[in-house]
Amino acid sequence: MKKYWWQDAIIYQVYLRSFQDTNQDGIGDINGVIQHLDYLKNLGVNTLWISPHYDSPMDDNGYDVRDFFKVSEDYGTIDDFKALLDEAHKKDMKVITDLVLNHTSDEHPWFQAAKDPNHPEHEHYHDYYIWQPPKFDKKGNRQHPTQWVSWFGGPVWEYNPPTKSYYLHIFSKKMPDLNWRNKAMRESLKQVIKWWIDLGVDGFRVDASNHLEKNWDFPDAKPGYEHFSSLPKHHDYLEELGKELFKPNNLLIIGEAGGATRKEAIQYAGFDSNEFNMLIQFEHCWADTDETNTLTPGKWAKGSIDLPKIKNSFAYWIDVFKGKGWNTIYWANHDQPRIVSHYGDDKKYHERSAKMLAFSLYLLPGTPIIYYGEEIGMTNVDYQNLGDFRDVEVFTEYDNFMSYGASHEVAMQALRDRSRDNARSPMQWNDTAYAGFSKVTPWINVNGNYQNINVKKQLNKEDSIYQTYRALLQLRKQENLPYADVNFYDLDHPQTFNYEVKGQKHNYLVLCNFKSTEIKMNKLPSLNEYTLFMANVDVNDVLSTTYSPFEARIYRKPIKA
Ligand code: GLC
Ligand code: CA
Repeated sequence: MKKYWWQDAIIYQVYLRSFQDTNQDGIGDINGVIQHLDYLKNLGVNTLWISPHYDSPMDDNGYDVRDFFKVSEDYGTIDDFKALLDEAHKKDMKVITDLVLNHTSDEHPWFQAAKDPNHPEHEHYHDYYIWQPPKFDKKGNRQHPTQWVSWFGGPVWEYNPPTKSYYLHIFSKKMPDLNWRNKAMRESLKQVIKWWIDLGVDGFRVDASNHLEKNWDFPDAKPGYEHFSSLPKHHDYLEELGKELFKPNNLLIIGEAGGATRKEAIQYAGFDSNEFNMLIQFEHCWADTDETNTLTPGKWAKGSIDLPKIKNSFAYWIDVFKGKGWNTIYWANHDQPRIVSHYGDDKKYHERSAKMLAFSLYLLPGTPIIYYGEEIGMTNVDYQNLGDFRDVEVFTEYDNFMSYGASHEVAMQALRDRSRDNARSPMQWNDTAYAGFSKVTPWINVNGNYQNINVKKQLNKEDSIYQTYRALLQLRKQENLPYADVNFYDLDHPQTFNYEVKGQKHNYLVLCNFKSTEIKMNKLPSLNEYTLFMANVDVNDVLSTTYSPFEARIYRKPIKA
């Protein structure tokens, strides 16, 4: 049944900047990851995904790469990185890194040459990026080539006076998009990839992979996403990398690509695909937006949770890959709010809802990706000032909210609910100053709740969120759950998250009340054959079908030989 090592991977995503600072500059670093390898191994993790570690001016925390061959001085040295690979490998753990292929920093030497007609290598590098001449209105005023809108808000075009043209940036203006139609550019990136493979990394998470191709007719549209996202030709580029570099080296390649169709998913990550091995799509991630909100619209508008959408999405993706490829299971990453704040309750039912969220996800088939701090139920931030935030996206969007008529308070609440900084506050290791992340003021503030929510406390507590994660990850291994068949119950029920998986020795029936009101479960198999295996509350009557807020139970029954 097993074909590849990564089918048994249990992945933990480390946001390097926020995990552990070891040299007391307030910034997480590679040595900080080495320091905690045993902690991660003990949790049950066997594969790390490290957010970008390359040299960068850090406009977007490293997704803006200045030098692909250099480790950021914020994070350490190449020797530190090699030590991380060695130490991890000694512990039978794999390390995959983030691979940013859609853009570079505007401080990358390629762009420095591209934008400057007097640069000796201008001609070669100009076409590494995407340039367009201005348009002019009737009065002769310079206009953007199109009205396309960046993923971070604002225009995708930035004017470059020396060339009298605009360059395209679908993220921040410090991240010009690379021109994938240029073969020399592709060869340059392949050298980068090969270099890291030769150094010993075990795979990559390919950033923004569905954006590589653009519509070079540059038709006008607003926001115009269809002209720079998921255009068919980006698969050709990925396949080229896959055939030459990914597949021959037994790597784990995870592609980030929102919005894939069923057919496209197999094209990306079917067992026979030459592109990726796994896919990260975001269908279940924003199932609680309020379409009527015009002050902080889109993902920023928090509404009520559409649970059927979440469940149907999980069921759908498991089905898409069944027998044809491999599924990933995850709640969130560095671009979404903290899951316990997002879909759970980070106040009254913090511990209970965090465990419920773990039950509802981590018995499902596929490869789990746990986001740092999720295993202790880290929550959204409590920042009171705009200046507490760090994310480049926050500041463009705050201005947008103001222009839509939002008050400062309304905008701040949207940021606390939805911004990416929620998922980037320092790891809460213990209850000493700065949560044990650093001895000095961190680059981004520690969440005020670190004295209650931290690793040390949960390591010492028998039924903590951490211990629940640990137990569930062990169960995955013991019962071979990555390969399990699953049956969802009542997918369209707005409040319950119920399913059954078939392990090696037992069937597991997972029953979760996903919301904050009591509920009576129905449409379930008779519980007589099952015994209660785990629960996130004390269950007095194991046959009762009334569930308190966020109550979750796992029952099991032996599989008859
Ligand atoms: C991906 C990353 C995100 C980053 C963007 C641009 O979506 O996950 O954090 O800002 O790409 O690289
Ligand atoms: Ca540091």
